[in-house]
Amino acid sequence: MVQAEREHWKTRAGFIAAAAGSAIGLGNIWRFPYIAGRYGGGAFVLVYILLLIFVGYPVMNSELLLGRKTQKNPVGAFKMLAPGKPWVIVGFMGVLAGFIILSYYSVVAGWALSYILKSGTYMAAGSDIGNIFVISISSTFGGIFWHTLFMLLTIGIVYGGIEKGIERWSKILMPVLLILLIILVIRSVTLPGAAEGLAFYLKPDFSKFSGEGFLAALGQVFFTLSLGMGCMITYGSYLKKNEDLPLNAKYVVGADTLVALLAGFVIFPAVFAFGLEPTTGPGLTFITLPAVFLQMGLAGHVFGSIFFILLTIAALTSAISLLEVVAAYFIDENKWNRKKATIVMGIAIWFLGIFPSLGYSTLSTVKVIGGRDILDSFDFFANNILLPLGGLLIAIFIGWFWGTDKALEEANQGANTKLSTSYSFLIKYVVPIAVFIVFLNSIGILR
Ligand code: TRP
Repeated sequence: MVQAEREHWKTRAGFIAAAAGSAIGLGNIWRFPYIAGRYGGGAFVLVYILLLIFVGYPVMNSELLLGRKTQKNPVGAFKMLAPGKPWVIVGFMGVLAGFIILSYYSVVAGWALSYILKSGTYMAAGSDIGNIFVISISSTFGGIFWHTLFMLLTIGIVYGGIEKGIERWSKILMPVLLILLIILVIRSVTLPGAAEGLAFYLKPDFSKFSGEGFLAALGQVFFTLSLGMGCMITYGSYLKKNEDLPLNAKYVVGADTLVALLAGFVIFPAVFAFGLEPTTGPGLTFITLPAVFLQMGLAGHVFGSIFFILLTIAALTSAISLLEVVAAYFIDENKWNRKKATIVMGIAIWFLGIFPSLGYSTLSTVKVIGGRDILDSFDFFANNILLPLGGLLIAIFIGWFWGTDKALEEANQGANTKLSTSYSFLIKYVVPIAVFIVFLNSIGILR
């Protein structure tokens, strides 16, 4: 059988939009601001930025160069570079992580999607606003409906392929995301009373920063940059050989960081201006922020809808990267065509997602890992186990098995921004040690 030639990103801007689109997601818009506030604001941000540079950037380069070198999905990449060796398991872990993460990511993204048109409902609820969220997620039909709709959007884009699907849509959606975000930043920082929120967010308070904050920062670096499961191996496999790979990696890390920081400028001033608590996780996004919009009166309908469109777009460009990893594996290794791979795997992931989606209604009594509900259990298994383990093994593979000299050769080909021996040092020593500590912590050995 003659194999169709591998598709490639058409333009540098297209690649950057797609890869930044993968990185920028729910992790930037609700998770980053919340943990930043919790671990000492500016102090956390400072440490986070250092970790982005010394851990995130080298690992980003590592994944991209493995992909470009092999022109393959994560499983194919390890098969090619270490034939007959167990390293291929790292690739399989990545595909599995993509499958699991997308199944529940789509459920949460479905909540965001449903909130675009819900401003009337939550604003009418007044002080009962928290209940609206509970009612939304515990609706059997609603949960499945929005999850299904979001998966259809994701499948539809990935079905179109690299250039005509992922690249084209990312180039449209990412600028829209940036514009919406800037509108919200302007509204938020000009609210009366915003200064208190800005101080909470930005004033470095080292007394609130701890070892735990350090670990949270490192975990966040991996999740927010889509590292540890071969997502960037897959996106790197569509990079042309003459692209400046380290420069592209810089842009992606930079864009992701910019959006996370800006999200903080939306959330904290607004939350403080209206005297609310910067509470955790989904609550901040789906309960606290709607309470902010409620207090804005009529304008709140507009800003509320803008916010949830923003959140849906961010989630969508991340979701397509997750589906692409799974699809690329079946396309490369099992010789499926793209249509079959996206539809069959999209449906399989959709089906798995029904379980976390019912976890707050029909299946609310089901507790899986350590008393967690289904969605939290999926999240724990993927983010606390598969991702750090994957990141650790990718760094060890390059640093100690395949060799940093070969890695440098691949990354620097066609590049003006060259990686140097500092990359080798970071990937051999700093990254494995740092990630190993995070991993021990996340599975509960370091407490
Ligand atoms: N980075 C995305 C976010 O911040 C989520 C994501 C997409 C992801 N692809 C990934 C996380 C791969 C880890 C691995 O929401």
